[in-house]
This record gives sequence, C-alpha cells and structure tokens, in this order.
Amino acid sequence: MKKIEKIKRVKGELRVPSDKSITHRAFILGALAYGETLVKEPLISEDTRATLEILKNLGTEVKENDNEIIIRGRNFIFTEPKEILDCKNSGTTARLMSGVLATQHFFSVLFGDESLRERPMLRVVEPLREMGAQIDGREEGNKLPISIRGGKLKGISYFNKRASAQVKSCLLLAGLRAEGVTEVIEPVLSRDHTERMLKLFGVEVITVPEERGHILKVKGGQELKGTEIYCPADPSSAAYFAALATLAPEGSLKLKDVLLNPTRDGFYRKLLEMGADITFENTREISNEPRADLIVRPVERLKAVKVEPEEVTSMIDEIPILAILMALADGVSEVRGAKELRYKESDRIKAVVHNLRKMGVKVEELEDGFIIEGTEKLKGAKIETFGDHRIAMAFAVAGLVTDEEVIIDRPECVSISYPQFWDDLFKIVEF
Ligand code: S3P
Repeated sequence: MKKIEKIKRVKGELRVPSDKSITHRAFILGALAYGETLVKEPLISEDTRATLEILKNLGTEVKENDNEIIIRGRNFIFTEPKEILDCKNSGTTARLMSGVLATQHFFSVLFGDESLRERPMLRVVEPLREMGAQIDGREEGNKLPISIRGGKLKGISYFNKRASAQVKSCLLLAGLRAEGVTEVIEPVLSRDHTERMLKLFGVEVITVPEERGHILKVKGGQELKGTEIYCPADPSSAAYFAALATLAPEGSLKLKDVLLNPTRDGFYRKLLEMGADITFENTREISNEPRADLIVRPVERLKAVKVEPEEVTSMIDEIPILAILMALADGVSEVRGAKELRYKESDRIKAVVHNLRKMGVKVEELEDGFIIEGTEKLKGAKIETFGDHRIAMAFAVAGLVTDEEVIIDRPECVSISYPQFWDDLFKIVEF
C-alpha cells in the first residue's frame, strides 16, 4: 500500500529509465547477431530481465557492467534449453521470443506469470504455424505455456489487423531464417523499433507505404552484424511526469533524452491538443531513433479531447495516464478503437473505469474505450492496480493532484517497467 498526498509544485529535471521496447529488441537482436553488441543505458526492469534470462538459457553469453550490457551474439545458433523459459509478466518477451524459437529445430517451452498466462498468443502462434513451426499449448495454443519446435520455415504474407508491434516483430524475426520473403501488412504503422534497429545490424528491411497500410518485408537468410545501441528514455514512463507537471499547481520539469519516434509520440501530441505547455529542445537522432528534452509547465485547465481509433496505436500504453488528464479536463473526452487495452497486463479499460469511478468521476465504459466527463476535483480513494504497473503509475499521478488521500495497492508492480518510479517521483515534487 502506498499513501499519496497532494503536491505543491514540481521542480528540477529527470532522465527516466530507458525505453522498454527498445531494450528488449537490443537484447534479442544482439543475441541473434554474430559478434558483440554493446547496449548502452538499457532498461533493467523485471520485463527486460525476463528477456535477458531467457537468452542466457539459450546459451547466450551476457556481460553486465554499470549502465551497459555486452551480448555475445549466437548468429541464430542457440542451444536447447533444459528448463522452461519464463517470460514472467512480459508480453513482448513471449511474442518476440516465439518468433526467435520458431527458427530453432529444438524443443522449447514458454511460460509466464498468472497475468501473462491469460493473454492471447494465437496472434503469433497462427502465423508462425503457417510459416512451418510446430506449436502446441493450452487452449489450442492460445495461452501459455506453449511448446515450440521450429526450424524449416517459409516466408508468408500476413495482414496484422490489430497493428500489433509484437506480432510484426515476431514475424520479422522468424522471417530472417525463413525461405523467401516474409511480409507484414499493417493498417496503421505500429512502433517501428524492430525495423529501425535491424537496419543498425545491417539487415535490409523494405518498407512500402500503400493504400491498405504499410508493408514491411524481410528476405530470409540475412545475417545481423553486432553493433552498438544507445537506448533513449522511455516516453511511456516520461508520460506520467509530463502529466504531473501539467496538472501541478506550479513549477516546471525538464524530462531529458525522451524517445520521440512518430509511432510512439501520440500521447504528447494529444496532450498538446488538450492545451498543455511543452517545449521540445535539443532534438537529435541516436541509434536511428529520434529523441529530445521536454520542458513541461503547468496549465490552468485542459480541454477535453477525442482519441480516434487510428490514433490509438501511437499511444496504446499511455491511455491510462491520458484518462487521468481527461478526468481533469474541461468537457467530455472519449477514447474509441482501443479494445486491445483489454488484453494488456490487466484489462485496462475496466481498471481505468473502476478506479476513476472510485475517485468520483462520471465514466461510461465502452467495449473499445470509454467516455469521461471532466471534473475539477478528484475524490480520495483506495486504488486497485490489479498488479498492473501502468495503472499504479497513472493513479499515483491522480493522487498527487488530489486534495484527499489516495492509496495505491501493490505499488511494487511499477518494477515491471520502472523500478525506481517512487524514488524519482519524490525527487521532483514538493509537498
Ligand atoms: C510493445 C507493443 C505494444 C505495447 C507493449 C510493447 C512492443 O503491444 O502495448 O507494451 O514492445 O512491441 P502490442 O504489440 O500488443 O500492441
């Protein structure tokens, strides 16, 4: 349990931990490459540790120094694991590693915690089976544990209707060891870190924007050459602080080195549309990813906004914190086309609606989103996080701008993506 009280101001600067999606990919691609890969400033959290441990179980040598990890690549030659591979709470680990294991002739089993064991896997299992992998598991292979025996794969053309980056990345990784070309078509371009990073490893990924969406193609048989990757700060983690600095009574906050990839910055664009005061400085590109420093200052009152279905992908993980901003905005806000939120670490539509109602907000739950009537003041409440890190951090921000006391249950769940969240938070506020 964590008690949260109202703050007087925000101050100073913060470099939030590095991007989770990029760190997972840096570890995995480093292991797939030949030669060494140096990952600078990786995110070390429960999720990224799960990926690293699995890669070690497959025979990958990993050296951990302060703020950097060196991976000795296996050039796609892994060893059969003696144990089941535990993805813990991490959907990205489960989906991306399924693609890697599908390229291997041996037998392996992916497992996960209680939450991950309820999350859908058929989205990757079906196309991987079509490519030639033998996969079995609970509920016809839709739920972990799943077993994989791969090897002889052939390229396929796959329409990624949910615009899931995990599905796209899984298939592109499997496609690197498939016969012919593997093609993924997306209605909306999902986070493109895998494509960007593959280029750093010397792999050619063909991108064709067209009418039905974006087409991404990889030709099988390409090798990855070990490289150096410098991970930027995670925009999903920075979002809680940008929201807090916007809602705070006074002060200003600098958020340094934040990834500003156009497939990930939807939250910041929406926040500006709501009337937030954000200045972008020192915009630059490192390791093929754009980043900038953000200065955020409080504003009197935010305007209500709508999130349309085609906007959801670029802000999928930020919707819980956006919901807090909507609850304190002037007017009625809406999110639609976000049914995928029901399949995250918790059912995030249910979790947001349930907790906002506890804080006295009028919310209508939709199958694929919610309608929120903005209010001037939130009520104190005991928040149920459902063990979901993003629900815990979003409602912590709500508590910090609420007169009455807010209590967050299972506050330790932030360590999935941001182990030092509570310490960082108390560094940049005054009570
Ligand atoms: C991620 C993709 C998104 C996101 C998740 C991380 C990734 O999931 O919600 O936190 O690293 O590829 P989907 O691919 O299911 O949309």
